[in-house]
Amino acid sequence: MSKRPGQPATGAGLGLRRALLGPLRDSPDAAIDFFEVAPENWINVGGKLGKTFRAYTERFPFVCHGLSLSLGGPAALDETLLHKIRRLLDEHGISQYSEHLSYCSDDGHLYDLMPIPFTEEAVDWVAARIRRAQDILGRRIAVENVSSYATPGQEMSEADFTKTVLQAADCDLLLDVNNVYVNAVNHRYDAEQFIRAMPQGRVAYIHIAGHYNEAPDLIVDSHAAAVIDPVWKLLDTAYAEFGVLPTLLERDFKFPPLAELINELDHVRAIQSRHDLIGHDQRAHDTLADARHVRTA
Ligand SMILES: [Fe+2]
Repeated sequence: MSKRPGQPATGAGLGLRRALLGPLRDSPDAAIDFFEVAPENWINVGGKLGKTFRAYTERFPFVCHGLSLSLGGPAALDETLLHKIRRLLDEHGISQYSEHLSYCSDDGHLYDLMPIPFTEEAVDWVAARIRRAQDILGRRIAVENVSSYATPGQEMSEADFTKTVLQAADCDLLLDVNNVYVNAVNHRYDAEQFIRAMPQGRVAYIHIAGHYNEAPDLIVDSHAAAVIDPVWKLLDTAYAEFGVLPTLLERDFKFPPLAELINELDHVRAIQSRHDLIGHDQRAHDTLADARHVRTA
């Protein structure tokens, strides 16, 4: 397979983690439609590993998902990092970049994704930083709804905060349906309602993952387990609402055999096919209705 530079992701993708390089080498025909990487893990990587990465980006569509930009953080935006990320995206023909709608640094790195307070002031702050990031990167970016365990200084709902940021920054959304599920349990809101509240035409792609149940009312977003049925159902809801979108399975720890991850990608593709079929039937129905209307007009 060879890809065109900047070819957008479609179908079902997997995070390209170094732990997966061996299993992927042993299964060159594994059904993976695209890969996602954290640019921070591949900037300035040369030698054999750099060549391996290049071989993958020449064959497959890629998306980049940042880890450490700290879009909501109080410290100055790391513009040096943004320039390095742009170079990586351009060198590998990757068009899509996303980051977390959260912060992970103050004076130092906090090594976790902290929730931004859901306030008007924070909307203005983070939206200005997203716009600046888009200017430096020379492309529209997507921000991801993150899982959280507290909502400090909350003045509006997470859904309203997310929508207002998307509008103010004029950026897209990376909709993580597992994070919606995790937060719906942790903060007691309706996950389906959250998804339906997101704006049409703004969802760039979707994340799906497994999590860890700490207590009946506390879920930890672990990326270390299989996707559970209620989260598959939210993926279904997202496709019903926004149409079929590229969907990335996040798995960062406790890697099962590659075949198990491919099974989960097959499950994503099965749901996508069902929605493609529904969309096709709906379009055929609309065309027929239009033709009848023309005949009777
Ligand atoms: Fe995610």
